[in-house]
Amino acid sequence: MHSFGYRANAVVTLAVTILAVMCSMASLSDNFNVPSPTAEVKVLNINWFQKQANGNDEVSLTLNISADLSSLFTWNTKQVFVFIAAEYETPQNALNQVSLWDGIIPSKDHAKFWIHTTNKYRLIDQGSNLRGKEFNLTLHWHVMPKTGKMFADKIVMTGYRLPEEYR
Ligand SMILES: *[C@@H]1O[C@H](CO)[C@@H](O)[C@H](O)[C@H]1NC(C)=O
Ligand SMILES: *[C@@H]1O[C@H](CO)[C@@H](O)[C@H](O)[C@H]1NC(C)=O
Repeated sequence: MHSFGYRANAVVTLAVTILAVMCSMASLSDNFNVPSPTAEVKVLNINWFQKQANGNDEVSLTLNISADLSSLFTWNTKQVFVFIAAEYETPQNALNQVSLWDGIIPSKDHAKFWIHTTNKYRLIDQGSNLRGKEFNLTLHWHVMPKTGKMFADKIVMTGYRLPEEYR
């Protein structure tokens, strides 16, 4: 005869197995969702652009960020971390990446938004490379699911350029 403890254990084991199967089905079905997020970032103003005392260039921008990340949300999405980076090349580095703004989107209701903001993090170059510099603004996102693996992707927006002169 099985003891009570043995049966309780068997029930728990079965429940855990069912839960595990459901979780892996959840993250599998999530892979069939092909997200199609959109984003647009306008540089509304160069607030100032100068060389610091130590010789590094710094620029302050006003941005209008609009995005629709609704399609990243499924019932398995916990939240989405999003950041915007300025990306540019210099003689020293093939890729310089400077984060300008970030946010956490807690739900689908908040996934379609626009925000008028100055750069939240400082855009400083390790040198004086920014005059007339072409750059990209890239919207990166990290989707944190309730179960399964995190995934990340980005939208690259090209064709931005800083002024030739400090101001
Ligand atoms: C920012 O972009 C949104 C969406 O494109 C637009 O409705 C809004 O008027 C823009 N704001 C400014 C200050 O340009
Ligand atoms: C901007 O992005 C385009 C397309 O991904 C890439 O070819 C180009 O090298 C990038 N430019 C800079 C300045 O990083």
